[in-house]
Amino acid sequence: MDSLDLLSPYLFRHKGKNFVVQEGLKPKDLDALRDVDVRPTDIYLVAFPKSGTLWMQQILVKIMDAAHPDQVEDSTNRVRVPWLEGGAVDNFHRERPDPRLYRTHIPPEMLPHGVKAKGIKVVYVMRNPKDVLVSLYHFAHSWVMLEKPKSFEDFFQDFLDGNVFMGSWFDHVREYYNQEDQMDILFMSYEDMLKDLRSEVVKLCAFLGKDLTDEAIDDVVESSTFKNMKTNPNANFKDLVEKERYLKETMRKGVAGDWKNHFTVAQNEYFDQVFTERMSDLPLSFTWELKQ
Ligand code: A3P
Repeated sequence: MDSLDLLSPYLFRHKGKNFVVQEGLKPKDLDALRDVDVRPTDIYLVAFPKSGTLWMQQILVKIMDAAHPDQVEDSTNRVRVPWLEGGAVDNFHRERPDPRLYRTHIPPEMLPHGVKAKGIKVVYVMRNPKDVLVSLYHFAHSWVMLEKPKSFEDFFQDFLDGNVFMGSWFDHVREYYNQEDQMDILFMSYEDMLKDLRSEVVKLCAFLGKDLTDEAIDDVVESSTFKNMKTNPNANFKDLVEKERYLKETMRKGVAGDWKNHFTVAQNEYFDQVFTERMSDLPLSFTWELKQ
């Protein structure tokens, strides 16, 4: 049996990343993901945790519903977009109709070989890391598989040190950014989606080669608003709340700038300093706050 390189009773490290200690998930299963079968029509949704994965999942599902109306299903997005490393990739995913959607948080070097080899489409969602930190802090109080932070101060440092679920946000973004020339990847920004969801959906449809009518695009946008996802059990993982896997609802605030309600001035200055040191060589810009 594989022994786990435990970071805590809740997380184990593998290839520089942190995974939840959950029934059945072993390093060899993560390594086996390299050999998962990939079809040229597959679409991978990738994000660092709490960057808008469920949001993009809903958008992709609605785009597919519009583009492939014969495949509309009344099942949850969790089923329709299996979580690659979450034990979802057993037999059932193979039976899913093409184009198959997957969601994952793993780094590029752990993705199935076929993702690059077959040039499949990858949608990477990025969010400003101050809000990712805050969202993950709250999520750690919700998902029973994660350790409840001792304090915000502790969690803040753990996030900067990469000692949280999945690891370092800074590394994750850099690793995907470095793949830009080697993968068919579209970078989407959570804040751009907040600013103008319709334009972002249009951009996404163009990338995916899905030619939707204006009306269909309106429908994708409308069904993917925070308000509508909050009441849609297929979109918001409510079943996990009912099963007490999540102690709080996943649709928490959905804004840009909630970090201002959590960071002290000193923490913000420290974060900015680390961000500059770690990211300033990348031509990325983030929106840190949006007025509601
Ligand atoms: P907050 O905790 O800041 O509210 P993920 O799906 O990657 O786990 O990300 C979760 C974050 O995305 C949560 O952020 C959640 O509220 C936000 N989110 C989900 N759907 C959204 C939507 N339609 N609009 C804006 N934010 C959304």
